[in-house]
Amino acid sequence: MQVSMTVNGRQRTDDVEPRLLLAHHLRDVCGLKATNIGCDSTSCGACTVVVDGLTVKSCTVLAVQADGAQVTTLEGLTGPDGEMHPVQRAFREEHGLQCGFCTPGMVMAAIGVLADNPDPSDREVREGLEGNLCRCTGYHNIVRAVQAAAKSGPAAGQVPQAQEVEA
Ligand code: FES
Ligand code: FES
Repeated sequence: MQVSMTVNGRQRTDDVEPRLLLAHHLRDVCGLKATNIGCDSTSCGACTVVVDGLTVKSCTVLAVQADGAQVTTLEGLTGPDGEMHPVQRAFREEHGLQCGFCTPGMVMAAIGVLADNPDPSDREVREGLEGNLCRCTGYHNIVRAVQAAAKSGPAAGQVPQAQEVEA
């Protein structure tokens, strides 16, 4: 069946199998490999993306369920001149990653945390990211990165608008 969605500002329509997960659609059909798959069973958060303003584990959603949606992956966070999103910048500056496998999902989930709470406490960040696992146990610096990103203002809790994303 056909599914249409806007992915990182680009409208696309694809023929997909009804059982195709959004995570696999993004990786294998759209070629957006930053959306990692760590478990395929809603446990790790590595596949987190933003769908219509909400963070979603994309291994939990069928591609056809995102029909008509605005989907943002990590690749869609970078500005037109290559500038990083405030959360990406903070992860780099605070060394909020080790192997980096969980990082795309962590960054997307962190944006959701900051959208709900622009100035979260240590505990609130940890609670907000509890669905995202870092196997390197790098949580301390991840929390620090989210709190650092919060200092950059409301943009930290937002994904770029479709028209701002380079197609
Ligand atoms: S791959 Fe989706 S939660 Fe782990
Ligand atoms: S940085 Fe290695 S799993 Fe998170």
